[in-house]
Amino acid sequence: MNIDGYGRVAIVTGAAQGLGLSIAQRMLEDGKRVALLDVNEEKLNELRLSPFFQQMNEAMYVFMKVDVSDTVAIKDAVRTIMNRWNRIDILINNAGIRRETSIEDITLEEWNLLMNVNLGGTFFFSQAVLEVMKVQLWGRIVNISSFGGQFGPLTSGAHYCASKAGQLVLTKVFARHLADYGITVNTVAPAAIRTPEMDNVDPGKLKHMIASIPVGRVGEAEEVAQLVSYLISDSTNFVTGATFDINGGLLMR
Ligand SMILES: NC(=O)c1ccc[n+]([C@@H]2O[C@H](COP(=O)([O-])OP(=O)(O)OC[C@H]3O[C@@H](n4cnc5c(N)ncnc54)[C@H](O)[C@@H]3O)[C@@H](O)[C@H]2O)c1
Repeated sequence: MNIDGYGRVAIVTGAAQGLGLSIAQRMLEDGKRVALLDVNEEKLNELRLSPFFQQMNEAMYVFMKVDVSDTVAIKDAVRTIMNRWNRIDILINNAGIRRETSIEDITLEEWNLLMNVNLGGTFFFSQAVLEVMKVQLWGRIVNISSFGGQFGPLTSGAHYCASKAGQLVLTKVFARHLADYGITVNTVAPAAIRTPEMDNVDPGKLKHMIASIPVGRVGEAEEVAQLVSYLISDSTNFVTGATFDINGGLLMR
């Protein structure tokens, strides 16, 4: 509790399940106020009734149906959160979709979908919170990219990998642009973390991938939330423009 007697205000996109949900829950446990955004309204409604949120003070969180590929919806969400809490300290650009479509079969429609959600969502949400964070002279933006954006495909398609690679350079562009304002921008690049999305990975490819992880197991969403928790803390003013790998040693660089 350090801002006007309340926790900092965070936005997590794609927070209805998987990494986004773990990150949001960890923040709430740490006393932050959290807006959980997702395009999947049904999942958000289920969460509202879950034991975790039932025992949490309702003043500390809000669920919002937002599609991060819709720039009008992003601006509306930022306005609503400002009306509610009057500040935005932290943005986690986590919403993402993954496809394993082969190069030969990727359509323009599927290409645009992945670019608009994974890369466009990161750009336009960061753009939308800039002015608020600049006035506050404090902010933390964390982009959840992927091993696929660093190394290329193990299980994912070319469009997914390209969108995730785009996030890496956006991190650097925003980090440089915002460094004078006490705003840090970093990337977390996970691989092989157990989330519902893992059920969609081709079992053969998954087995092969796990066999090549030096740590010998998949990662847990809470381990990613722990890393994000460090990056958004007050003690990381000097950490910006960086990419943090969390992949059990799958990629060492
Ligand atoms: N799990 C992993 O091993 C892994 C590895 C590398 C990168 N990542 C990245 O981490 C992030 C989260 O992955 P996950 O495994 O938790 O995935 P997930 O599919 O379990 O969760 C993603 C969430 O994003 C939401 N979402 C999708 N499109 C959206 C949109 N247009 N607007 C708002 N929300 C939207 C989904 O409804 C879902 O709740 C993604 O960006 C993914 O690329 C995950």
